[in-house]
Amino acid sequence: MTELALSSLRAHWFAACPSRALRRRPLARTVLGVPIVLFRTGDGVRPLLDRCPHRNRALSDGALCGDSLRCAYHGWRFDGEGRCVEVPGLPGAADRPSRRAGAFPVAERDGIAWVLLAGEPGATRFPLHALAHPAGAAFDRVLWTLRLQASLTDALENLLDAAHPHFVHRGLLRSARRRPTEVTVRRDAHGASAEYRGDGASAGWLSRLLEGERALTVASYLAPAVARLEYHGPRGPRFVVSVAFTPVDERTCDVHAVVATPRTVVPAFVKHAVLRALFAPVIRQDAAALARQRWNLERFGEPSFVSTPLDVMRPHIVSLLHGGANGAAANGVPEQRIVLDL
Ligand code: FES
Ligand SMILES: [Fe+2]
Repeated sequence: MTELALSSLRAHWFAACPSRALRRRPLARTVLGVPIVLFRTGDGVRPLLDRCPHRNRALSDGALCGDSLRCAYHGWRFDGEGRCVEVPGLPGAADRPSRRAGAFPVAERDGIAWVLLAGEPGATRFPLHALAHPAGAAFDRVLWTLRLQASLTDALENLLDAAHPHFVHRGLLRSARRRPTEVTVRRDAHGASAEYRGDGASAGWLSRLLEGERALTVASYLAPAVARLEYHGPRGPRFVVSVAFTPVDERTCDVHAVVATPRTVVPAFVKHAVLRALFAPVIRQDAAALARQRWNLERFGEPSFVSTPLDVMRPHIVSLLHGGANGAAANGVPEQRIVLDL
């Protein structure tokens, strides 16, 4: 399998940073291998290419100056659209097309600043609905961020994979017992999902503590880079984590995860502090597993993977990422049922 070309994903929205990270200083990020700088103006967040057109110093080394960003080297100043509004020492209007810094469309939703590196904003499906799920005020939400040493494909697979928790999160998310679990896999041109019925019997202590009785688990993928895990009790969702992955480069992904839980009498900030403490080991375990996988992939130079029907989501992730809508057609069957021991 050939490595995914990150440039092929540029016409999709990607999460760049949490809104709350943008205050008084410019923020450097790399999205799909492209260095950008984000800063907040009176009109909202603005992302520019992180390269001053003058001598190419990183604009993220600069400082905010009202609604504009001043380069740290010779002081050129740029507005939120990337126009040069001042060249210190040079009389007359500063703006020229050649002096502009590249600017990108941006949207601030769900506490996240999203950027689009190429293409028309209106022509691109926005993954917001995936992150806002489940809808409504009956849920508390919290945004977590982290960085993984993993390719986009491996990071997506790790979140949606039901086979590794028995080993990587043994006891926490899965007990040693396995039970036959009916899995329904659905696929369309935009994504894929797997519903697991009966996997609650082998839930670990952390899962039981958070969810109570589990009726259904749904793992879904929305191409190219959003994934969601839903754990349902008999009366609806108990714990939902929706994740926007942002490839920094071929071996690194930034993660923006929205964790939603039903609102209770416990104040949200208390609940979130407890959740963070409880999930810290789970996140560390996944991050370590992915980092070791990446290390070994690089040691051997290229992947040589063997899969079984337990690897439910990977084929869909790969064909949607590499083949787009044609991948959906190539993969054929829109719905499949299998029974696995989970
Ligand atoms: S490099 Fe930015 S002003 Fe000269
Ligand atoms: Fe995991």
